Amino acid sequence: MNDLKEGREQWGSRLGFILAAMGSAVGLGNIWRFSYVTGESGGAAFLLIYILCILAIGIPILMAEFTIGRRAQSDVVGSFETLAPGKPWVLAGFLGVASAFIILSFYAVVAGWSLHYFVQYLSGGPSIDAEGGYGGYFGEFISSPLQPLFWQFAFMVLTVGIVFVGVKKGIEKSNKILMPLLAVLVLVLAGYSMTLGGAQEAIAFLFTPDWSSLTDPNVYFAALGQAFFSLSLGMGALITYGSYLSKKDKLPGAAVSVAGLDTLFAIVAGLMIFPAVFAFGIEPDSGPGLVFITLPGIFDSITGGGIFGLAFFFLLSAAALSSGVSLLEVAVAYFMRKFQWSRQKTAIFIGFIIFILGIPSSLGLGILSDVQIFGRDIFDTMDFIASNIFLPIGGLIIALFVGWGWKKADALDASDFGDTLIGNGWILILRFFAPVAIFIIFLSSIGVL
Ligand code: PHE
Repeated sequence: MNDLKEGREQWGSRLGFILAAMGSAVGLGNIWRFSYVTGESGGAAFLLIYILCILAIGIPILMAEFTIGRRAQSDVVGSFETLAPGKPWVLAGFLGVASAFIILSFYAVVAGWSLHYFVQYLSGGPSIDAEGGYGGYFGEFISSPLQPLFWQFAFMVLTVGIVFVGVKKGIEKSNKILMPLLAVLVLVLAGYSMTLGGAQEAIAFLFTPDWSSLTDPNVYFAALGQAFFSLSLGMGALITYGSYLSKKDKLPGAAVSVAGLDTLFAIVAGLMIFPAVFAFGIEPDSGPGLVFITLPGIFDSITGGGIFGLAFFFLLSAAALSSGVSLLEVAVAYFMRKFQWSRQKTAIFIGFIIFILGIPSSLGLGILSDVQIFGRDIFDTMDFIASNIFLPIGGLIIALFVGWGWKKADALDASDFGDTLIGNGWILILRFFAPVAIFIIFLSSIGVL
């Protein structure tokens, strides 16, 4: 990044920024989390509400984050302090930093699984005995105490390494090459997966809603959380990235491209996973292991498919890395400014704390699996608190801030919308629709409505 404003870094180009934001959005959320949550939430009805959440709540709040970041030119906390000094909006900033810690802590666990599978495919793929199949292999792997921790650590080292040299240098290039490659591979695998015999069932599962589940508040709750998680929304990752943007770029186009691509990615990933899930007789609600027990079966059924496995888990790990970087950057940008530490020292220090924080999540799937909090293991609890609670609340505050805490003319100007119909519609959504929708989904899922 060119050192423009008082040494603050800047993206090399508008494309560089869009790619970085896409790199943040596209990751394990689209493939791993999307497919297992869709599977657990019953398929099509969930998918429908998820898409509605993206369109009606996600994109407007994404625009709000870009706008805040670029105007304030600071980290999440600093952005609110700059734009609204002494006001309580900064709460969203602290919530964002907390979310960054929590999400990256368990994200690194799953990214570690992906690294492990990648390394397995260097020598032909995970070796399984006939009985347990890939489910057995996966179960054994995640419940062994040390192995997953080793890979989680390895992922954190890579993430810290990139944040250490600076986000732009670290990821602009890899996003430009590896993300499109992953897209092509997922597309090809989806096409192949459809030939395995489960296509019809998968299409019905994904696209024919069981209308009765539209009255289940938990489906809305899950869809909202997934929308926020997948778009990297509600915790300031995109405020932070927006803050490395110069004034001359146009925001609305960027917001729509990021959200559009992210959603497309998830849907194609669904078309890759579910036909195989049904063809192999795997339960769609198998939980967080779903892609790790399904995909090896696909690779197995292709002659020489090990090479696909290798490429897939390599590219998935790279996608996870560019998302992990955006998570770590939120915390690092804040602590660097707050304590005047160097980027290098901050990255290592915060990265280490996040690794430690993630250990219980990893062990919660093995030796600590007896520890249950309201029926959830430690891993699920961390994910639930961050994705389903913190992110939507953070998004709620961000929407209210741009809608009410900022002069309308200022917000319209800072967003590049100007005083247009779309701009005014955007403000209306941030003022009323998005906050009310989030609020209602929350109340109904805790049984108040
Ligand atoms: N959106 C990322 C993914 O889909 C995860 C993420 C969440 C990144 C929140 C940053 C902030 O993998």
